[in-house]
Amino acid sequence: MNSSSINIRPLEVVDLEQVINIELEAHDYPWKKSIHLSCIEQEYPSLVLEQNSSIIGYVVFNYLFDECHLMNITTSVSYQGKGFASQLIQAMYKKAKVAGMQSVLLEVRESNQPALSFYTKEGFEEIGRRPNYYPSQDSREAAIVMRRSL
Ligand SMILES: CC(C)(COP(=O)(O)OP(=O)(O)OC[C@H]1O[C@@H](n2cnc3c(N)ncnc32)[C@H](O)[C@@H]1OP(=O)(O)O)[C@@H](O)C(=O)NCCC(=O)NCCS
Repeated sequence: MNSSSINIRPLEVVDLEQVINIELEAHDYPWKKSIHLSCIEQEYPSLVLEQNSSIIGYVVFNYLFDECHLMNITTSVSYQGKGFASQLIQAMYKKAKVAGMQSVLLEVRESNQPALSFYTKEGFEEIGRRPNYYPSQDSREAAIVMRRSL
């Protein structure tokens, strides 16, 4: 990989088509286009990672008081396992710190082992569980709530 061709920048409306394609491919329970659009309209901070002008991953987050809420981080399936989500989340930490955030909070499906491993490697710790938080194939699924200081 030529790291010089990697660029991380804010997500824009023109990126939506690429982002939705990655979302549909990477998630078992993808966000609808309307959710992505609403995050852009509400000016939630977000970043895309692109290589040679193609989007490979993105992260959408939000600020509440001094806490950054990580809402969605996704790497395109064929680019997973190459450190791109790590690069994106590091860029998010930097941006959130500049905005005065002290910590990052997130919810993750208890069945999402890759994401749990990723967040644990990133230094997140489980601080609670929300039972029946997400819809799932069987009925509902718990969310694990994780937190990391900045
Ligand atoms: C979770 C996700 C964002 C990780 O993206 P990625 O670009 O593959 O992650 P990275 O390559 O930066 O991985 C960094 C570390 O996370 C851990 N990790 C990532 N994917 C993993 C997997 N499938 N299994 C186990 N550990 C994993 C590893 O510790 C890895 O470090 P290592 O490669 O040195 O072992 C990606 O799997 C994804 O997009 N999943 C679908 C969307 C999703 O569930 N998002 C999270 C909830 S919103």
